[in-house]
Amino acid sequence: MSAVIDDDGATGEAGVAHPSASEQRARRKRLKQERHQRIASMVRGRPELGPDTVHFDIANACNTRCTTCWHHSPFLAPEHRPSGAWKRQRLAFSDYARILDEVASLGGLAHVILSGMGDPTLNPELVAMVRHAHGHGLSVTIITNLLRADLDALLASPGELDLLTSICGVTPKSWQDFHAHPRPDGWQVLTKQLEQLRAVGFRPKHVQVINNANAHELVEMVEFAAEYPVKRVNFKLASLARGTEAVALSAHEKQHLRDELVPAAMAAAERLGVDTDLSAFARQIHPDGHATSPIAEVGCFMGYVYCRVTVEQELLYCCNTQVSIGQLGPDVSASELWRGSRYASIRSTLRRGAYFKGCTQCGKFKQNVKWHERLSELLEPGVMRSLYGGPPA
Ligand SMILES: C[S@@+](CC[C@H](N)C(=O)[O-])C[C@H]1O[C@@H](n2cnc3c(N)ncnc32)[C@H](O)[C@@H]1O
Ligand code: SF4
Ligand code: SF4
Repeated sequence: MSAVIDDDGATGEAGVAHPSASEQRARRKRLKQERHQRIASMVRGRPELGPDTVHFDIANACNTRCTTCWHHSPFLAPEHRPSGAWKRQRLAFSDYARILDEVASLGGLAHVILSGMGDPTLNPELVAMVRHAHGHGLSVTIITNLLRADLDALLASPGELDLLTSICGVTPKSWQDFHAHPRPDGWQVLTKQLEQLRAVGFRPKHVQVINNANAHELVEMVEFAAEYPVKRVNFKLASLARGTEAVALSAHEKQHLRDELVPAAMAAAERLGVDTDLSAFARQIHPDGHATSPIAEVGCFMGYVYCRVTVEQELLYCCNTQVSIGQLGPDVSASELWRGSRYASIRSTLRRGAYFKGCTQCGKFKQNVKWHERLSELLEPGVMRSLYGGPPA
């Protein structure tokens, strides 16, 4: 099934560290060198290294039903509801390990994201996958609703781990309204998991997807992140389609969010010392329409840093399932596709400033903004414009 967009928060920055200080220093030095190489590749238009981050979807099934979800929302129009057979699919450890090893062989790989079109905790091989990535010296980010996560096992894996936990509401009512959770105790289960993380001093990142059930809690979301200490709170305006527009904010609510609630939440974050991405979030809020990303002003650089593998072993350019590269399998390797003609042609299409359907709700918008800023500091304006078809001087 084709789907819309998925923002997973990060290419980079990992969390609790088991490796020694000198190992971390060596790793940071290598990452810096690779970043220079990567920037040179972007200017040439041909990647010399493999991606910095590979994202694996390892389960299509989910244990909850977020109203904004592109695959599990009860608001999806009937023709967009996935089948039971699709939901039961998951990526096997052996396929994951084969693909990860291939991507790592390209050089430059630093991070693995384990997520899903459902929840990765529903794949019983999740812990083994984390350990395999740690065995490569890679940092791991798990994107999860946290409800079913085996925290003892995950935290015991010897490597850097980030948990990007979808919270999406910080009172029992808004959480339940957002999640349409099938059981009455979902909120209690979540807070118990967060208490366990707090008790061992592990700081997750919170994701707060904003819709009409929880937008009024923006300040409380920051306070919640102070109560259950976090590394950062990522706010995302829900990108909605296929029926889930039913939970969109009205134009008036969006304006209130941008003009009143975001500044109040920023003030709370400052007061409480909570790291957030609220200023980038504010850029996503346009009172008219569903677009969340002025991508033409920014450019897309993901073809040099990121790729995604679905449970069906399809290689995607990003989180936009419209932008498929090809089908992986025992005879088609990720490294072959990364260096192949389809990838090259998509890189050059985006370089010209031509975008795909769905790019106006780019799930990698904040990462593209970061790359835009980083590159603009280093490159002449003319060279910079040539990387994304930016406006003439
Ligand atoms: C589809 S979920 C899959 C992983 C996991 N089940 C979870 O929810 O964290 C990936 C990310 O998308 C977020 N998300 C869900 N609906 C969204 C929407 N309509 N717009 C933007 N992000 C959304 C989730 O909060 C999560 O951070
Ligand atoms: S937890 Fe993730 S996959 Fe599950 S319904 Fe929510 S957004 Fe969708
Ligand atoms: S702009 Fe790039 S990363 Fe964003 S949806 Fe389009 S192709 Fe994907």
